[in-house]
Amino acid sequence: MAEEFFIDKTQNKAQQYESLLQQITALISAETDFIANLSNISAALKFGMQWWWVGFYLVKDNQLVLGPFQGPVACTRINFGKGVCGKAWQQKQTIIVGDVNTFEGHIACSTQSQSEIVVPGFKNGLVFLVLDVDSEHLNAFDNTDARYLQQLMALIENLAFH
Ligand code: SME
Repeated sequence: MAEEFFIDKTQNKAQQYESLLQQITALISAETDFIANLSNISAALKFGMQWWWVGFYLVKDNQLVLGPFQGPVACTRINFGKGVCGKAWQQKQTIIVGDVNTFEGHIACSTQSQSEIVVPGFKNGLVFLVLDVDSEHLNAFDNTDARYLQQLMALIENLAFH
């Protein structure tokens, strides 16, 4: 199992993601436990990409409930349609927020967070979890992040089916 993660920060964002996804694939290949893998994925993303907060919320009893994450303590439950996470769940699509202060209904778990991306994961056409990534910088996320984090979500969806 890979024990060290290395992302070369001199590379462009797409190259960093290619390396990250390759390393995450290796990291999770030897483990079948879903929560163990989500835990390591959140650590790999947090420390590989140096984001402020990275974590998963899992759909349980019609709410999003905090799952494995890395970063400061966070809100534990989010209702359908609430906040960026609840909206990504409701709209069944990735949401990029360049400035969380201008997003109506944003749930501020940390005042440090300035921008955010939320990517939903699907099982039988229904959202069963979301990945939430926060940055302490404005406009940290763009379509490149969306594209690669959706690729990551495809890996996670496969894990969940096994
Ligand atoms: N900001 C999110 C809540 C989760 S925390 O950022 C970890 C939202 O508006 O849904």
